[in-house]
Amino acid sequence: MQIVKTVAAFKRLRSAWDDQRLTVSLVPTMGALHAGHLSLLSPAREADRVVVSIFVNPTQFGPHEDLQRYPRPLEQDLCLLKARGVDAVFLPSASEIYPEGYRTIVTVEELSSRLCGVSRPGHFRGVATVVLKLFNIVRPHRAVFGQKDAQQTVILRRMVRDLELDVELIVQPIVREADGLALSSRNQYLNPEERKPATVLFRSLEFARLESLQGESRTGVLLRGVRELIESERLARLDYAEIVSTDDLSPLDEVTAQALLALAVFIGRTRLIDNTFLHKSLIDSSLPPG
Ligand SMILES: Nc1ncnc2c1ncn2[C@@H]1O[C@H](COP(=O)(O)OP(=O)(O)OP(=O)(O)O)[C@@H](O)[C@H]1O
Ligand SMILES: [Mg+2]
Repeated sequence: MQIVKTVAAFKRLRSAWDDQRLTVSLVPTMGALHAGHLSLLSPAREADRVVVSIFVNPTQFGPHEDLQRYPRPLEQDLCLLKARGVDAVFLPSASEIYPEGYRTIVTVEELSSRLCGVSRPGHFRGVATVVLKLFNIVRPHRAVFGQKDAQQTVILRRMVRDLELDVELIVQPIVREADGLALSSRNQYLNPEERKPATVLFRSLEFARLESLQGESRTGVLLRGVRELIESERLARLDYAEIVSTDDLSPLDEVTAQALLALAVFIGRTRLIDNTFLHKSLIDSSLPPG
């Protein structure tokens, strides 16, 4: 497994792969790898070469967020990737990506200011900027992301479409702990008393998913139930709960085929996100019961 720390060295490796007509996949991460990240490797392996980037991107953190204390277990991450046959790890420093004089920002308008964009202004332009830069350095044929960051996938799909990028985006399902908590590097911040309350995200998603399957299509009613569940958990504080269209993240009044329920909840000081698709009930509510 090659470990490449500079843009210039990565571009040299990439041209050598071009000469051999090899296809390339990219899995962008911030490290502190868990089974959610590792699940992204399966579709990546369909290409001839798999690249994982590990970069704790400073521009996607707000001024009062956890950039400094973000976990960086580098040796462990490299072991995990090597054992799984990854071909190259791109491991740039912040000054390699944003050298002196760097001035260009990519903003996917409107989509970036909804949902997580309200409490994390600037987050998604940091994400779009670094992902476009990684695409230009790695030039992947395919790039793999997780559904856990649902808004991120919608924004990146739009960027790829708007800017005519020749890359296939693949989105993999959310990997969860046995009790439903979505895997996340930030779960490490939870103390033992917070770990169980953290399942309230999954429990409230499941509540809404089952209600909608049983015929409740009014999003206002579903969201009221979700909020009540979260408020009933002492250590939890709701940031947002919304049911939106996966197309443009606009709020929906009724559950449609494209409905996504997305949540952000503080458990103590740790902000967690999760989401689920809602499906229109197969029960026709216009028919009388029986
Ligand atoms: N539980 C998960 N299931 C599937 N994919 C995941 C999961 N957690 C993260 N990913 C995906 O891994 C990629 C890299 O994410 P990132 O490195 O930010 O990890 P993370 O666990 O989300 O960390 P953090 O919670 O600090 O944001 C993203 O595409 C993200 O959606
Ligand atoms: Mg993340």
